[in-house]
Amino acid sequence: MFGKRQLSVAAIGCGNRARVYLNLISEQPENFTIVAAADPVSQRVEAIRGISNNPNFLSFADADELLGCSRLADVLIIATQDNYHFDPCTRALRKGYDIVLEKPISNNIHEVVELEELAHELGRRVIVCHVLRYTSFYRKLRELIQSGILGEVINFNASEGIGPWHFAHSYVRGHWSVVENATPTIAAKCSHDMDLLHWLLDKKCKRVSSFGHLTFFKKENYKLNDQYPMFDATRYLDQDQKIWLAQVYDNPDGEKEEILGWLKSSDWGRNVFQCDNTAPDHQTVNLEFEGGTTGTFTMSAFDEGRNYEFNGTKARLRAGDFYKEHLGADIIITDHASNRTTRLNVVDGNPHPKFGDYHNGGDVGFIKELHLLLTQEETPPTSITSSLQSHLMAFGSEESRKTGEVISIDQYYRSLKSRENALD
Ligand SMILES: NC(=O)c1ccc[n+]([C@@H]2O[C@H](COP(=O)([O-])OP(=O)(O)OC[C@H]3O[C@@H](n4cnc5c(N)ncnc54)[C@H](O)[C@@H]3O)[C@@H](O)[C@H]2O)c1
Repeated sequence: MFGKRQLSVAAIGCGNRARVYLNLISEQPENFTIVAAADPVSQRVEAIRGISNNPNFLSFADADELLGCSRLADVLIIATQDNYHFDPCTRALRKGYDIVLEKPISNNIHEVVELEELAHELGRRVIVCHVLRYTSFYRKLRELIQSGILGEVINFNASEGIGPWHFAHSYVRGHWSVVENATPTIAAKCSHDMDLLHWLLDKKCKRVSSFGHLTFFKKENYKLNDQYPMFDATRYLDQDQKIWLAQVYDNPDGEKEEILGWLKSSDWGRNVFQCDNTAPDHQTVNLEFEGGTTGTFTMSAFDEGRNYEFNGTKARLRAGDFYKEHLGADIIITDHASNRTTRLNVVDGNPHPKFGDYHNGGDVGFIKELHLLLTQEETPPTSITSSLQSHLMAFGSEESRKTGEVISIDQYYRSLKSRENALD
């Protein structure tokens, strides 16, 4: 049918995410060749040139310049910041590129709906980087839930703890701190979680309601500053925080004085009680799925890791970071009838010396399957159409948080879409 052919790849936005994907792609020369990249920061494009190992690699100063040329590659990775996905993605689709698009699809739900419609209209592939679906852990979880071992799933509780430092980095000091200008937290961070929930259950979400507030990282709490040295910006110099510095500063291994100088004028050098942040530091979503399955999802700055409780008619399942850390098992299933407990540990199918820890092996797993996702006839599991579901759930939750209304996902979608056929 399609046969195994090498695909050419270009990228717009050469920051953290593109670098990880392109490094992994460069490990599959039989499947991919990296031909071009665009970024206003020339050293980031040059880093991709190095990764590409391609003497004919083309560099561009920005998306406009790259998209001003006729189509340069089979596939375009779009890994710019959230507010600059829609414009390059629309233009690239019209030029005939298939797209690997970083999540969220856009920071604006109208654009999400419009892009999905456009991809559908043009018959192009847009694969959204919901990389957690490509981890061994989530695949096992889904396999167990879909196997019927739990019986019918009646309800669930799920949570994502972002962790205080990570939250401060991204949602107090960083890109997603002012919700009025950025993707809402529940969509920026938790579109993964929304995506996982409807995929694990294999059901459509019908309604959501949500509460959430910014409670801690506020100016009136500056009086508490001395009690929280853990948030001091000089901690970006600590070895175990370099990973965070590297996300926003191009020379994380530079001299201490140079980094301190940069922090002084950078958003990431600000005191966490003196920012202009509005992103909630905790938010709970109530969800109702087809068939009456109900559940809660809680995002908190003050928890760490993802955890799940699925309660079925035959058994209950507990899984996630807490269970792994404190009970030594990834997944614990207790059968109601026998009261017998089974503990499971999932072997990571995507070990990698450098990127194995990134998204629990999700980045590696995603790129391992990318060639197939782009060439097989079937619609990729993380297509833009599937991802539209999670975006409606996430943006619907934010709408509910702001208005206090219960949001019907079908009605919300109908109010946003121009295409008539229903979501499936
Ligand atoms: N899949 C995931 O789990 C995951 C994880 C983290 C981030 N993300 C998302 O990935 C995207 C990129 O995040 P990142 O951390 O790599 O950001 P980043 O800031 O490191 O990279 C973005 C790059 O885009 C470049 N850019 C800006 N304007 C441009 C233009 N006009 N043309 C070309 N390039 C331009 C910037 O210079 C920067 O290098 C974001 O949408 C983010 O939300 C997804």
